[in-house]
Amino acid sequence: MQIRGEDLTVAYYADIHVLLDVSMEAPENMITCVIGPNGAGKSTLLKTLFGYLIPRSGKVYLDGRDITTLAAQDRMRLGIGYVDQLHSVFPEMSVDENLELGAWTFRRDRERIGEAKDRVYRQYPVLSERRKVHAGLLSGGEQRMLEIARVLMPDPSLILMDEPSAGLSPKITEEIYGEISRLKEIGKTLLLVDQNLHSAVPRSDYLYVMELGQISARGPTAELGDDLRAIVSDWLSVT
Ligand SMILES: Nc1ncnc2c1ncn2[C@@H]1O[C@H](COP(=O)(O)OP(=O)(O)OP(=O)(O)O)[C@@H](O)[C@H]1O
Ligand SMILES: [Mg+2]
Repeated sequence: MQIRGEDLTVAYYADIHVLLDVSMEAPENMITCVIGPNGAGKSTLLKTLFGYLIPRSGKVYLDGRDITTLAAQDRMRLGIGYVDQLHSVFPEMSVDENLELGAWTFRRDRERIGEAKDRVYRQYPVLSERRKVHAGLLSGGEQRMLEIARVLMPDPSLILMDEPSAGLSPKITEEIYGEISRLKEIGKTLLLVDQNLHSAVPRSDYLYVMELGQISARGPTAELGDDLRAIVSDWLSVT
């Protein structure tokens, strides 16, 4: 499954454009990564692709089908998953209950929920061992894994992930990126936003650099690698 944004322009207020004519794509079974400084519009782009925001102009295509005005829950049913930048574990609920929330699109089908949980717990033994534990008692890294695992419950083909490793230790970040690479191996399409260039860039096939609501550079990781150092040191010198 692949997704494409064409000339996307998005504004929260009046004519203050947060995205201006952004065109990009996440091709089938590749890891595509969007990098850029704070406030560049990266999360806004993912929300627009997922259907939480409707663009002022421009189109979103899923496998060539125009889904620009389709609601987020309908995009989920078509096979898109979205891991929010904001943390969303329900701390008073158990790991198991949190996972079941990810299955709300088929919540009446107990058999399917059971199968989905078996599949996800096989991928995340750490969560499997702690099914009855309150999610609030998990470590920060384990909570992030639970958020990702919850999005995987309906078995999406395309996964949008907003800063999967922000604020986590290098060890947990490596685990999360190992899991992201594994998702690619089993045929998923991934579109990531990450500030953690060290982990994200080497694992990505294609990069977009976003600044002030526009794509300022793009290319296969191998080709953009060197330019990237100059681009990023630029951000560091202005912030
Ligand atoms: N709900 C909102 N209402 C109004 N303005 C918003 C809203 N969300 C984001 N913005 C503005 O849109 C711009 C882009 O925000 P966005 O969250 O997309 O950036 P980002 O690249 O994801 O940044 P970060 O790296 O900090 O997560 C910012 O100027 C931000 O203040
Ligand atoms: Mg963001």
